[in-house]
Amino acid sequence: MTGTVRLTPMRWWHLDDVHRLEVRLFPDDAWSLEQFWQELAQPTRRYLVAVDGASVVGYAGMFIAEPDADIQTVGVDPNRQGEGIARGLLEELLAVAEHGGVTHTLLEVRADNEPARALYDRLGFERISQRPRYYADGGDALILRRARPRHSDAGEVDRDR
Ligand SMILES: CC(C)(COP(=O)(O)OP(=O)(O)OC[C@H]1O[C@@H](n2cnc3c(N)ncnc32)[C@H](O)[C@@H]1OP(=O)(O)O)[C@@H](O)C(=O)NCCC(=O)NCCS
Repeated sequence: MTGTVRLTPMRWWHLDDVHRLEVRLFPDDAWSLEQFWQELAQPTRRYLVAVDGASVVGYAGMFIAEPDADIQTVGVDPNRQGEGIARGLLEELLAVAEHGGVTHTLLEVRADNEPARALYDRLGFERISQRPRYYADGGDALILRRARPRHSDAGEVDRDR
């Protein structure tokens, strides 16, 4: 992530920009603006935006119900992908959730979404199940889970099971 990008909690004044990105990134099943408003109104949700100057270049959100959490969404401006922005957003959300007592984080991803699968793999998510023909177009969904990393005495990172 370049030095000019900063992460900040998503607020109502980001929502028009977030929704414009959402429609570009998820043309078939974009959330409505109202859905984003509803998400922000829930105390169990944590949403972040990545901002560069006045531009929103990415966003991500999580539903936290300790000891579990769910990644609700993540998206990055197509012109800014590959810069580590999604990874930065999710690492920050995971750090806050896991510091607060979350031991396992789950998410659902399209089996054919290779960039997203690579991102989650990089963050230590593992496949726990598959839902065939889960999406309206017949695509399969994968359910992935990450266990909170546990720092051993040797300084290596293990995972709680
Ligand atoms: C998936 C998405 C959020 C990734 O955002 P991004 O900011 O480009 O991802 P990052 O630059 O943080 O990449 C993080 C890791 O993911 C992997 N990755 C990301 N995009 C990739 C691609 N196109 N091909 C292969 N690997 C990729 C890389 O391994 C990278 O690891 P590294 O940090 O070791 O380089 C972005 O492609 C996107 O917005 N896609 C459309 C929306 C979407 O599908 N969201 C996920 C729904 S489940």
